[in-house]
Formats: sequence, structure tokens, C-alpha cells
Amino acid sequence: MDRTHTCGQLTKKDIGKDIVLNGWVDTRRDHGNLIFIDIRDRYGLTQVVLNPEVNAVAHGLGGQLRREFVVRIEGKVNARPDGTVNKSWVTGEIEVECSGLDIITKSLPLPIEISDTAQSSDESRLTYRYLDLRGEKMQRSIRDRHRIVKIVRDFYDENNFLEIETPILAKSTPEGARDYLVPSRVNPGRFFALPQSPQIFKQLLMISGFDRYMQIARCFRDEDLRADRQPEFTQIDVEMSFIDENDIMNIHEKLMQKIFKGYFNEDLKIPFPRYDYKEVIKRWGIDRPDIRFGLELVDFTGILGSDNFNAFNAVVKDGGVIKGIVVEGKADFSRKDIEALEEFVKIYKAKGLASFKILDAVEGSLVKFFSEKTIAALKEKSGAKKGDVILVVAGPEKVVHDSLGFLRPHLAQKLNLIKQKWNFLWVKDFPMFEWDEEEQRPKAMHHPFTSPKKEDLDFLESDPLKVRSNAYDMVLNGIEIGGGSIRIHTPELQARVFATLGISKEEAKEKFGFMMDAFKYGAPPHGGIAFGLDRMIMLFVNSESIRDVIAFPKNKAAVSLMDGSPSGVDDKQLRELHIKLDLKK
Ligand code: AMO
Repeated sequence: MDRTHTCGQLTKKDIGKDIVLNGWVDTRRDHGNLIFIDIRDRYGLTQVVLNPEVNAVAHGLGGQLRREFVVRIEGKVNARPDGTVNKSWVTGEIEVECSGLDIITKSLPLPIEISDTAQSSDESRLTYRYLDLRGEKMQRSIRDRHRIVKIVRDFYDENNFLEIETPILAKSTPEGARDYLVPSRVNPGRFFALPQSPQIFKQLLMISGFDRYMQIARCFRDEDLRADRQPEFTQIDVEMSFIDENDIMNIHEKLMQKIFKGYFNEDLKIPFPRYDYKEVIKRWGIDRPDIRFGLELVDFTGILGSDNFNAFNAVVKDGGVIKGIVVEGKADFSRKDIEALEEFVKIYKAKGLASFKILDAVEGSLVKFFSEKTIAALKEKSGAKKGDVILVVAGPEKVVHDSLGFLRPHLAQKLNLIKQKWNFLWVKDFPMFEWDEEEQRPKAMHHPFTSPKKEDLDFLESDPLKVRSNAYDMVLNGIEIGGGSIRIHTPELQARVFATLGISKEEAKEKFGFMMDAFKYGAPPHGGIAFGLDRMIMLFVNSESIRDVIAFPKNKAAVSLMDGSPSGVDDKQLRELHIKLDLKK
């Protein structure tokens, strides 16, 4: 190795040593006689002084240096002169007096800014990702990701789990997204699907007797992207035998505790609260609530839906609900403020957002439609005090819950109501099925291998939407970071669930026959969970997007701007794969 030290290493202890550094020119400051360069590598920055009296050739070369040139520096470690110490750098008390300088490679002027304060567009950052990754923020998140993954692997290892790799070229797994398909050259007309998750394989590993499995697993889903979704992402994937849902929850609370200790040096309090799905929806509108602030939903259906306001009465007649949230001290919301919030809830299909301001009297455009008694009841039920405002949405249950469920965190952000840093909770007892409007039949809320609650089994055929499942999600700060379930482990029950999902016997045999067969050879009861590793790390490193914690992510259109994939392929390749591209776009 040529270098004797990294750029983040030299301190007062090294004063007087002769050293060699390699790195990138971060900045160059020409002070006439002296040239100062800060050289950088992944470990930090070191100030180097080029003095013509020490080495005139090196000083001469120093004039040619530009940002991001790669250099080799030979020199001696000196104390920095009084008044020039930089406390924010590890190396801030020393500087290197350069006795030899080699320019190893040059750099063109940069197409993007790589420093933290940079305001380059997302598009150019992704195009020049290898440069973007040089920046301190990206270096930190990639480094932290490594550290967290190491803690995670150690945790499972200490708890007797085996990390087992599962195929990438495989059969479709039903996680609810579209598949990425890979054509098989040697099997004309046949395709592999990239795994949406290792779900089926990890269950088969339980049947193989592996008992405790984990994998840092890459998953692929062709779905619409958001800030916390990527087409290619990583799960901490887990499966265990002879356990129940409490075992899974308990051990994963310990995992989080270990990450918090190892990464933040903080003691995380466990257990996390565990809420039923029903309660969560009732109180917070969505199944991954952020409960670091209040703004709980209050049901006004009985109060506002039976007076003189026809629109609300019609909602109730159609089976809808009227719910609201109380925003403390915000009776001074302007008309414009309320209109902006109304626009927000319209995203979730709400028809409008009614406001009731609690002033000397209750004010709002709808007040005139309600009797004094109704308004008094509204005030009483909401618990609103003078100076508060009640925001109300009426409509089908899902619309109302979605609107208010998403309005809560939106308001909390806007009004700066979030004071707590971390809030973990579990949501459990999810419905087994939800209604698929398009297909007009039930679809699995988690996935088809999730077991129904024993006590609801009788409704599986007669009233499937009533059946609850043994599924659970871990939610952190309003983001679902993990989800799992106790699985079905008998072929009979699996067949009943497939039937409820409208999967015919033939289709079940074709798609999952191998799994159903496996269940016939002694399947242990089992269950598991998978965490969205990228999402988790995004939250831990305090980023807004999972792209910030993935070295080479795709953009919102599922395109890698750096290498231009997905790209066209030549005709020869297509012919070999027996593929013709003649469908109209
Ligand atoms: P699920 O589909 O809930 O469960 O996924 C588990 C976790 O993976 C994360 N996640 C994603 N992260 C980034 N981009 C995406 N497109 C994306 N999709 C999901 C989420 C989610 O909580 N096989 C089951 C797990 C099991 O039952 O054991 C599964 O994959 O954080």
C-alpha cells in the first residue's frame, strides 16, 4: 500500500512524522506564495500546504490542481499555526507540509455539485451518481447502511438464524405487484419472474427443517413509485418455525433495540404498543398511523348526519360516515388555509372539508344548517375549546378515513406538532381480505399464504370480508417498515383460501402446486416477517427518500439515469429469446 494514512486520520500525535496520503482535491486556495489544498477520501479531509521553499516543483504543480484531481502527497505533519485550528475536523489540528506531489489523474469540471449544500437537480445527481456518492451525505448514509446491516446480521446469528440465499430467477410470488419477467433462451416462450419477495422459498425452508431463516434479500416489484418505494429494494427477510405472532413481535422488538444501541447508542423501550387494525383505523384513519401527535379522529356521524344539512344526511343514508379532527388553537386558520387543506383531502377523493371554528360562537359556512343543539353536541363530542377548529369530512368510510388519515401527518408537519423522535408500534389482526373493485372479488390483504384467525374460520366461504388474519406490521413514525404473518401450514386450509381468492384448483396447481405438495410431507407451523431495509435506514439516517440510502437507485419512472437502463436490445438478442416487439404502444 502506498499511503501511510487516510485523510481522516492524522492528529497532534502524528506531528513530525513523514507520511504519504492519497485522495481527491476537495478545495484549493492560492495564497500567492503558499497554496493550500484540502485532500479528501472516504475517511475525511486533510489540509496540505504547498510551499515553494520546501519543494518548488510540487508548488508549481499545485497551480495546475483543480477540484477532484486524484493526487499523491508526500510530506511531514506539522501543527497548524495558532488561530487556524479547525475543531470540526479530526485532522483539524495539523497540516501536511508537502515535499512531493503527484497528479495521478485529472478531473473535468464537475457536472454536479457534490458538497452537502449542493442544489443540483435530482436528475443530474442520478445521472452522475458516482460523483454524487462522493458527497459527505451519501458517503455517510452508505456507511451507516453497512453498519446497520452488520448489526442486523449479528443479531440473527446470535439468535441461531441461518442466512440462506434464495433464487433470483424463479416463479412469480404473489405480493400484489406486477412481476419483472426474464425470458428463458433455452426454454422458448417461458419466463422467470424476479422475486417480489422470497416468500415461498422461505416457507419451503421451514418445511426443510431450517427452523430459523433470515436473508438480506433483494426484491423486485413493478409498481408505481413513491419516495419510499423502489422497483428493486432490499428486505430483511425472516421465517421461523414453531412460533406464534408474539414470538415474532418480541424478537423483532429486540432487533430494533439492538440497532438503537449499536447505531445510536440509545436504549429503546420495548415492548412497542400493539393495536388491532380496527382500532387503528377508527382512531387514526390509516393502518400505519403516526401517533407522535394527537389529531385523533372523532366520529360525528350521529350528530351532523341527522339535522338539516342534506348533503351530510345523504352521506349517512348511503352508508357513509362523518368524521373530523380538532386542531388546537387554529380557529385563526384563514379561508385560504382551509382551502389549501381542502385541496389536500380532495387527493383522497373527499368532496370537501368543512370547518367549525370555536370562537365566541361556532363559525363556519355550514353552521347555518345545524341547530344550536347539534352544534352544542358537536362541541361536546369533539372536546374542542375556544380557539380550536374542527375539520370535518363526510363520505364513504374509506374516503373519510384516507382523507383524515393523511391530513393528520400533513397538518402535523405544517404546524410543527411532532416533538417525539421515534415512535414504534405494531398493527395486528388485519382483515384477511379486502374487496378488489376491479376484479369484484376478495383479494388477500397481506398475501395468500397468511393464516386466518381460527375463530373466524367459519366465515371463510360465507363472509370472507369478516375474517381476520394473523398478520402484523411494524410501523415507525407513520411508515410501515415491516410486515409479516403466521402462515397456513396445511394443504386443506391453503386450498380453501385459494378458493376464496377465486384461484381455481387448476391455477393453484399450476402456480403453487409444488408448495401445496410440500405441505403434504410434514410442514411445521411457521410464520415470519420482512422489513423494508431501505425504508428503515432512510428513517434512521433522517433522509426523505429511500434513494438516499441506495447506492444506485432508479428514478420515479423506474429508470436508471446513469446507465440508461432499461434499454433496447438488438434484434439478434430478441430472436434468441424468441421475442418479437410488434405490439402497438
Ligand atoms: P411486504 O410486501 O409487506 O411483505 O413487504 C415487506 C416490507 O418491504 C418494504 N417494501 C418496500 N420497500 C421499498 N420499495 C418497495 N417497492 C417496497 N415494497 C415493500 C416495506 C414492507 O413493510 N413476503 C412478505 C413478508 C412476510 O410475510 O414475511 C412481504 O414481502 O417496508
